[in-house]
Amino acid sequence: MTAPMITGWGKCLPPAVLSNADLERLTDTSDAWISTRTGIKGRRISHAETSDLAAVAGRHALAAAGLSPAEIDLVIVATCTPDRLVPSAAALVQAKVGAVRAAALDLNAACSGFLYGLVVADQMVRTGSMRRVLVIGAEKLHFFLDFTDRATSVLFGDGAGAVVVEPSEEEGGLLSFELGTDGTAADILCIAGSGTEGAPAAERRPRVEMEGPTVFRRAVEAMGEASARVLEKAGLTVADVDLLIPHQANRRIVEATARRLGLDEGKVMVNLEAYGNTSAASIPIALAEALEAGRVGAGARLLFAAFGGGLTWAAAVYRWGARVAPLEVSEAALPPTSRSGRDLLEPNVVFYGKGG
Ligand code: ACO
Repeated sequence: MTAPMITGWGKCLPPAVLSNADLERLTDTSDAWISTRTGIKGRRISHAETSDLAAVAGRHALAAAGLSPAEIDLVIVATCTPDRLVPSAAALVQAKVGAVRAAALDLNAACSGFLYGLVVADQMVRTGSMRRVLVIGAEKLHFFLDFTDRATSVLFGDGAGAVVVEPSEEEGGLLSFELGTDGTAADILCIAGSGTEGAPAAERRPRVEMEGPTVFRRAVEAMGEASARVLEKAGLTVADVDLLIPHQANRRIVEATARRLGLDEGKVMVNLEAYGNTSAASIPIALAEALEAGRVGAGARLLFAAFGGGLTWAAAVYRWGARVAPLEVSEAALPPTSRSGRDLLEPNVVFYGKGG
């Protein structure tokens, strides 16, 4: 049996930046607080929709794999911020990239969504039921942020990352994984009123709500414990890990998870200072940037770990293949914009009744 492998990767970060200084003008916060408590310095605000971000990342991943869109059998978009409930963001992406033969589905496991999608793709390819799967994590989270709420608005950003999974003659791929959920803790991190239950109150738009310190504690526990278990399942130890690519929630969460595992901080991929928490997009963006930076070598043993609303968590051990460079490069990009991050927030700010 040939192993399903990641053969292409890509990302899309919208150009407009929202800095900590911009946030100081919107809510009662400071660059010093955000930097020291989270490690985040800036985040991107998208002028385009989630499916646009996803399609650009997807096109880069297809080019890196040297594939045409028509060769894809399935498009999975992991997102909790789709353009619409119907059709799925994946259906829109299927059209935008021209994956004319592909089935398409959205997958919502919040920040763990990309790893859930990667596992689904791996298992589909492993059974032979699908040959080539495009897995994308994409979010336009700023739409659901109340920029008067300093506890949530400083943490999140927009973006997308993508991979192609297909059979390979190489040894490696996904060596072990764990997916978990605790739905009894649904309310500690949620966007209440965003579905059939209706809005929480007539005057309130659905927005990210979070018990930050509880999420922090549970994220460190869940990512640390699941990571230890997947390493054991793969017959590896922490010393065998070349790079941990964790969900980019908060630098302190990432550092505490690495400490709990006993992993050297030089073996941890962190890019959250530039993008904040991009939920399902964070791991594929970090993977693409780790490859660009030469931090993933041929045969590298990667540890992925994520945690998010649900509560959900996921961890996986992945053995990279021989190729660490893209086969082709795509020119795909979002339509240009001259609007700043602060300009793009205007609808949210007006809605929540605060000026900037
Ligand atoms: N600016 C200034 N002060 C703030 C801010 C802010 N943006 N946010 C909170 N504070 C204040 C609080 O009001 C509190 O003040 P008080 O002591 O006067 O009451 C003080 O700072 C400490 O607040 P805590 O919430 O205890 O701060 P903590 O160190 O826990 O950091 C944070 C808060 C950053 C939210 C942290 O708990 C965290 O990162 N939690 C996890 C969040 C997360 O990553 N969520 C997403 C993961 S899952 C997913 O991605 C969907």
